[in-house]
Amino acid sequence: MSETELNTLQSEILKAIESASDADALDVVRVEVLGKKGKLTELMKTLGKLEPEARKAFGAALNVVKDTLMQSLEAKQKILASAALCARLEKERIDVTLAPRPMADGRIHPITQTTDEIVTIFAAMGFNVAKGPDIEEDWNNFTALNMPPDHPARQMQDTFYMPDGVDAVAVAGSEADRIAVASDKKRVLRTHTSPVQIRTMLNQKPPIRIIAPGRTFRCDSDMTHTPMFHQFEGLVIDEKTNMGHLKGCLLDFLRAFFGIDDLPLRFRPSYFPFTEPSAEVDIGCSRKGGELKLGNYGDWLEVGGCGMVNSNVLRNCGIDPDVYQGFAFGTGIERLAMLKYGIPDLRTFFDGDMRWLKHYGFVPLDIPNPALVGSGAC
Ligand code: PHE
Repeated sequence: MSETELNTLQSEILKAIESASDADALDVVRVEVLGKKGKLTELMKTLGKLEPEARKAFGAALNVVKDTLMQSLEAKQKILASAALCARLEKERIDVTLAPRPMADGRIHPITQTTDEIVTIFAAMGFNVAKGPDIEEDWNNFTALNMPPDHPARQMQDTFYMPDGVDAVAVAGSEADRIAVASDKKRVLRTHTSPVQIRTMLNQKPPIRIIAPGRTFRCDSDMTHTPMFHQFEGLVIDEKTNMGHLKGCLLDFLRAFFGIDDLPLRFRPSYFPFTEPSAEVDIGCSRKGGELKLGNYGDWLEVGGCGMVNSNVLRNCGIDPDVYQGFAFGTGIERLAMLKYGIPDLRTFFDGDMRWLKHYGFVPLDIPNPALVGSGAC
């Protein structure tokens, strides 16, 4: 075969490669050229019959053609594979932006919404959410929090005790190996979220930074008290945290939650057995004309309790108070919801009245965003 013929053959094959429209067509071309009976393979077989000089020259020429064709095949294969992938992606495209179907009924309860908003703000400050059971052990709810069985402070929290022998399904087993005296084993409907402090400190090494929202229970019922209500607890433990951090943290939270940039905050000295020193948290308000308005108006409204974690509490949880310290705070969620959303009566939260829920409830998927929480957009 002459050099010209070889060149013609090469350009014919290159053309065939170029016009292959998919991987199968390309493979047909490849077999026709390089397969057992392929055009190039057949030519290779003729080399043996040539004189040494001619064999050398033709062999070299054939190898150049072979390399060129193989490179071209490979390049074309890549092009076809990526085109096939693009076509598949296009075909299997899912429109994730499809609008959700609006729900005719159903609202998010203001307690759920408010809890989500609180968690959203604290999450942005680096807090994790911790949880505990509604039915608690006396030790977690009182004794470990520096309120032993005969402590008068227990009277501040009228308690629902479970009948003796009633086992709490909800009590987590993580500290089951703790040996407690009989009275500590008694079950109570937790009177505050503070036992979650204990559970967290027993299960986690400092540094700790948690927020614990949840149901709480007290034997109270009037205009401003329901036997079941909600609180959220905050706990920060590390080596350096001080009362200034506590105040800054609550100030940031309350300003973000209510969306009032200059909302004043004051600490009023108080007493809780589990914090020392302790303070009530007040925010600025006005009560002029019988209307409650939050802001820098000179009057004050209490929204929670707080303080530095008492060293006895740290010790009860196996944390060395000479190394670690920290703060805790607790607030009623209903109270915050009532203030933010203008809900006048606490008891209506739990009436299960659909008209109330339609009015005060939130549209599902209206998920709180830290940038919008206090802006009225949530
Ligand atoms: N647990 C307290 C209550 O329910 C509130 C509180 C929590 C106070 C944490 C100080 C620190 O009244």
